[in-house]
Amino acid sequence: MMTDLHDLTEEQRAIIATARAFTDSQVRPFAAQWDRDAYFEPSLVRHLGELGFLGMLLPTEYDGLGLDARTYLLALEEVAAVDASVAVMMSVHNSLPTQLLHAFGTEAQKRRWLAPMARGELLGAFALSEPDAGSDASAVRCRARRDGDGWIVSGTKGWVTSGTHAGVIIAMIRTDTADDPKGSKGISAFILTPDLPGFGVGKKEDKMGMRASPTVQLVFDEMRVPADRLVGAEGMGFIYAMQSLEHGRLGIAAQSIGIARAAFNAARAYATERKQFGTPIAEFQGVQFQLADMATRITAARSLLHTVAAAKDRGVAVSGEVSMCKLFASETAMWVTTHAIQIFGGYGYVKDYPVERYFRDAKVTEIYEGTSEVQRIIIGRAVSKV
Ligand code: CAA
Repeated sequence: MMTDLHDLTEEQRAIIATARAFTDSQVRPFAAQWDRDAYFEPSLVRHLGELGFLGMLLPTEYDGLGLDARTYLLALEEVAAVDASVAVMMSVHNSLPTQLLHAFGTEAQKRRWLAPMARGELLGAFALSEPDAGSDASAVRCRARRDGDGWIVSGTKGWVTSGTHAGVIIAMIRTDTADDPKGSKGISAFILTPDLPGFGVGKKEDKMGMRASPTVQLVFDEMRVPADRLVGAEGMGFIYAMQSLEHGRLGIAAQSIGIARAAFNAARAYATERKQFGTPIAEFQGVQFQLADMATRITAARSLLHTVAAAKDRGVAVSGEVSMCKLFASETAMWVTTHAIQIFGGYGYVKDYPVERYFRDAKVTEIYEGTSEVQRIIIGRAVSKV
């Protein structure tokens, strides 16, 4: 079946096998309970770090695995097929804070922060959105003012994945002044840590899905930030964030494919066992057609993702194509999980089977790291350039 990839290298097969062994022993037995309890298991960070899964794209000099994007995305799909909450923690960590620091940090910042992140000693998070700045990301209001060599930061960040357990948060903070506003060029990237005086974790969101991944507000109350926490050039934070989100959106596409694959496999297995009108429902053409469309969409989403990820690794400019991957894969996840529940009928609507969790988890892939509407804006701008 083309819903599985065939052209894998030995290294990719080994990474997939490692991911499966890890999820089978450390995640699968607990995923339903963690979802019910909205519980984040902290030991996962150490386990993932030991496997190298928290530094998959980083070079070995920073204790990373130095893998290409495709191999990383295959591992992420495996984890997402078992528990999308664990996958989003892994995706955010590997793409947004680590890639931003690796691309724009000084050598001293990379040595200090990246290696412990790759080893799983420090979990990474990314703080861009605010209560009043979601899709319109350059409208952020968290502000830093100069204080000697350093900065004093005040404001609230929202929707921060892993924010309760993160040891390093890359945050986009406004460094222009009210007298001289610079819009998207007035935002800078900072390395924040929970030990900074004035750092606080605020409201934890009670979510529909991805319940084992904590999403919180971060509250900065006159927080003192040393000078060596500014990343790259002042005023470049928005552009760094947009570039890092290109890695992030490929990760969310892989996560979406993992969720869709899990729902498809569950629906296919159920359809061969469940008998109605004296025959397994998989023999009804109406059910076969749904399985056919699910498999087609999953295969198309994965093919698109791997083509674009390989091009990105070669240095091709693929902003529009990255958004196509995220848009198509997340809408595939929503569509496939909806149809999986339909095939399960009433049993799909209750918690005895995992498909209702897949459906709830799938929804946010159309929202976070840029809604489907934001992806269409980016694609629309890319394809209408003359
Ligand atoms: N690479 C490099 N530069 C980029 C870029 C990219 N991919 N995208 C934009 N820029 C640059 C532009 O070139 C422009 O610079 P110039 O003025 O020098 O040309 C500057 O950034 C401003 O760009 P735009 O004019 O395109 O900005 P805009 O205000 O029109 O917004 C947007 C564009 C696409 C809507 C953007 O705001 C956006 O992506 N919004 C969604 C935000 C988002 O994805 N949030 C996710 C939060 S993180 C999260 O969810 C993680 C989690 O924890 C799960």
